[in-house]
Amino acid sequence: MTTAQAAENEILLTSTDRAASDWDELLRLQTEMFLPVELEFFFSNSSWARAGSVLDVGCGNGSYLSTLQPFFPQKTYVGIDVSDELVRLAEARASGDGMTFEQADFFSYRSEEPFDAILMRLIVQHLSGFDSLLEQASLLLRPGGALYVIEPDIENSRTFPRTPVFDRVVRDFEKHRELSDKNRKRLGELAGVVARNPDWRLSRELRLSVPTVGPFAETSHLRMMQLWIDLMERSGCLSLFDAARDELACWSENPASFCQVGIRILQLKHVDAQHQIH
Ligand SMILES: C[S@@+](CC[C@H](N)C(=O)[O-])C[C@H]1O[C@@H](n2cnc3c(N)ncnc32)[C@H](O)[C@@H]1O
Repeated sequence: MTTAQAAENEILLTSTDRAASDWDELLRLQTEMFLPVELEFFFSNSSWARAGSVLDVGCGNGSYLSTLQPFFPQKTYVGIDVSDELVRLAEARASGDGMTFEQADFFSYRSEEPFDAILMRLIVQHLSGFDSLLEQASLLLRPGGALYVIEPDIENSRTFPRTPVFDRVVRDFEKHRELSDKNRKRLGELAGVVARNPDWRLSRELRLSVPTVGPFAETSHLRMMQLWIDLMERSGCLSLFDAARDELACWSENPASFCQVGIRILQLKHVDAQHQIH
């Protein structure tokens, strides 16, 4: 990632060993945790079933693609990411055939052949606005192809017993991202932007959730939440990080604890506007 990109997206910095290893661990845990419900979606999706080539934008350390690939081994996959460090990890991890990784910025990436499907998982929240994203995706996706946007659904996420300090940290972080003009809090607007764009159609929107019962002490679930706090702290917003860590540690011991993380999946179809019959 260039210094300019890093300065406006500090949370994604991977140039120190600590940051790269935290992201590596977090992306692995998030894949483990959420992939089962995402697979339920992909197995029932006919556009996905037909797609022969897939571009994963912001592929990170490749753990998502490497875990997905064995379920759909007949497809070819290209993963791109701005982070050198994460792309190197992705290349080292890639075991399946038909999977390549490349260090590239989505907005300047070009491909000779358009893809049948584009995945954007947990990246749209870090970008600013939707128009340039849709414009660039339409250059890379064949008409009729599908763009899958997968993001957390904060309104559909909760802990029991409540963790008010942790919730406050998340809210402060969201405000901070909003001030930095990032999409994190604006994902609800994407469907409206698509409705006004003749090149795109919203073909499916799903809100899924991953419920988990505690106690969470020493689980990978707790570790994932701790990493979220560490990364939010590094994003430069001021908040109650140590208090949130203490609160989570205490919550995680409770045998009657529960956590639900919401996920939102939007499937956007790239319409061939020039050849549409009206
Ligand atoms: C939260 S990670 C998600 C990684 C992966 N998609 C997953 O679900 O495990 C977001 C990734 O997007 C990458 N990214 C951010 N802006 C990008 C851009 N303009 N082009 C390519 N990658 C980008 C970051 O470097 C980071 O690795």
